[in-house]
Amino acid sequence: MLNDFVPLICAHMTSNIVTIDLSALRHNFKKVKEWIGPSARILCVVKSDAYGHGMLPVAKVLESIGTDYFGVFEAEEGIVLREAGIRAPTLVLKGIDADEIPAAVEYDLTPGVFDLGIIEQLSDYALKHGKVVPIHIKVDTGMGRIGVPWEETAAFIKTLLHMKGVAPTGIFSHFSVADEPDHPFTDVQLERFRKVVAVAHDLGIKNPEIHIANSGAILNHKGLENHLFRPGIILYGSPPSAACPHIDELKPVMSFRSRVVQVKTVNRGASISYGRTYIAEAQRVIATIPVGYDDGYSRLLSNKGGALIREKRAPIVGTVCMNLTMVDVTDIESVSPGDEVVLLGRQGADCITAEEIAEQSGTISYEVYCSIGKSNKRCYIGDVS
Ligand SMILES: Cc1ncc(COP(=O)(O)O)c(C=O)c1O
Repeated sequence: MLNDFVPLICAHMTSNIVTIDLSALRHNFKKVKEWIGPSARILCVVKSDAYGHGMLPVAKVLESIGTDYFGVFEAEEGIVLREAGIRAPTLVLKGIDADEIPAAVEYDLTPGVFDLGIIEQLSDYALKHGKVVPIHIKVDTGMGRIGVPWEETAAFIKTLLHMKGVAPTGIFSHFSVADEPDHPFTDVQLERFRKVVAVAHDLGIKNPEIHIANSGAILNHKGLENHLFRPGIILYGSPPSAACPHIDELKPVMSFRSRVVQVKTVNRGASISYGRTYIAEAQRVIATIPVGYDDGYSRLLSNKGGALIREKRAPIVGTVCMNLTMVDVTDIESVSPGDEVVLLGRQGADCITAEEIAEQSGTISYEVYCSIGKSNKRCYIGDVS
């Protein structure tokens, strides 16, 4: 199996390895706690295989250091957590469909809800099995994705309260621009959310978990009067955008290394890789690395990205292939096959961040982590106790 959790054992048969530093994860979790205050609770978002970091090892550490909830995208991920013995309340952010009702009840998951038809089926099923299932009402305050339109929440809640097999223990929404400090739309969403919470209270939903703040909101101190927070990307050591404060206090959790497979000298006029997008203007020394887009290393990094070898930067030359990438090591002394290559992370004094790769490939750090983390063998280091 590609991504079995083998703590601290990093023996492998491939040159390419993603390292997940669990001490950095713990550090970031503690920072979040510091920012939200001692009485606030945390729902750690571990969907999408913990953003490529490996859901189970990450969740085990986060549970051991006191997360209050987990957030997964779909029921299947919640089942994986439960079967691994993870007991923390788990919110299914996408909600559930009719097929997922039996599993959601059996595995004690907390569905996010926004569809009265599904809630009715869930309630009936729960009652038949002698249970009352906790649900969190998902409200769309402006993200435009999923959720009850915020203006329709009162009617939604009135109907919902007739269904006795479900207990609305939470109300949540999601910000669309909270990573941009001072963006006025965040306050618009907050205001709508406050109104929704007041309506829910007036209709008899007392003391629900109220949550709207993602990483951007936590860093930018938005929605801090709520008691439950839903960080994702900051747990993994990246800010949601460069405009956020506290960036330097986070520690990246993932790094990605490989080894040089060949070093050769090419003459002026030689071309490198598919499409001949790089032509040497002088004699150059080129190292080949067995990493390509099949390893989650984007082809958009062709002639743009770089790697660290012998503690120096080597620029990518030519097109990134499916399994191979070439870098120019002319200015780095004695590069040899077998030398370590860092494509993401630190080597010596220098560091290639996910944000840097994201900028070069026209995306965000989230996608860099998901792509690289899910495509490679992962090895876990750091304090897992
Ligand atoms: C509903 C919901 N809450 C929280 C998060 C966490 O967001 P972030 O990683 O920006 O903290 C996500 C991530 O996409 C999400 O979809």
